[in-house]
Amino acid sequence: MLQANALYSYYGKSPIIQNVSFNVRPGDFVSILGRNGVGKTTLLRTIIGLTSRTEGELNFDGADLARMSTADRAFHGIAYVPQGREVIPRFTVRENLVMGTYARRDGKRTVPDYIFELFPVLKQSIGRRGGDLSGGQQQQLAIGRALAMEPKILLLDEPTEGIQPNIVKQIEDIIIRLNREMGLTIILVEQNISFARRASEQFIILDKGRVALSGRADELTDEISRKHLSF
Ligand SMILES: Nc1ncnc2c1ncn2[C@@H]1O[C@H](COP(=O)(O)OP(=O)(O)OP(=O)(O)O)[C@@H](O)[C@H]1O
Ligand SMILES: [Mg+2]
Repeated sequence: MLQANALYSYYGKSPIIQNVSFNVRPGDFVSILGRNGVGKTTLLRTIIGLTSRTEGELNFDGADLARMSTADRAFHGIAYVPQGREVIPRFTVRENLVMGTYARRDGKRTVPDYIFELFPVLKQSIGRRGGDLSGGQQQQLAIGRALAMEPKILLLDEPTEGIQPNIVKQIEDIIIRLNREMGLTIILVEQNISFARRASEQFIILDKGRVALSGRADELTDEISRKHLSF
């Protein structure tokens, strides 16, 4: 579904992602792990086309992503929930959700009902401004907005970072359900190893923009965590 082969990605002249290869199949759940500043966010931004330049192969459902604009990548079914959420504060919850529908291929502007079933709080606060919601609610809105385009693959960047502990478990469980019950393919950037282990089937550990280690999530031992992920 999504294949990278010897992928490089740059900000200006600096190579950030270097020689990264992976293969994500439909229904997979892959976690991207690594310490601060190793390039996790940059890898997601590379997939959606937000870095200055890339080299190497990047294919999605047989199409060459490297030549596609960010908007076209979204039209092809790639949804991205950025680190820090980036909900539009002055827009209402409804307006934020409708924005997500603009990446739909079928031109529909209706927000699918299941989003409100997953996140009842969005229904309750439909007329409130995004900026007035709590951090946890904004994260739910950001995920809801990404789902409103009915994507084929969802890229999530540290979705539980900086969120009240009582909401974290709720968001984690919904992310797991999206994959296991609804079959959505997910790439998750995480620093929370226990969530990554619980949620994903595969992991990729980055170090200085390169793949340091990859494997099955159930092989993520405490030793690996100490060696590659602790500070
Ligand atoms: N817009 C940018 N322009 C230039 N360099 C950048 C930009 N964004 C990130 N970088 C650099 O790219 C490298 C990787 O950053 P990135 O944000 O991808 O790391 P990360 O693994 O997501 O870190 P964190 O865990 O803190 O979110 C860092 O050296 C960073 O300084
Ligand atoms: Mg990051």
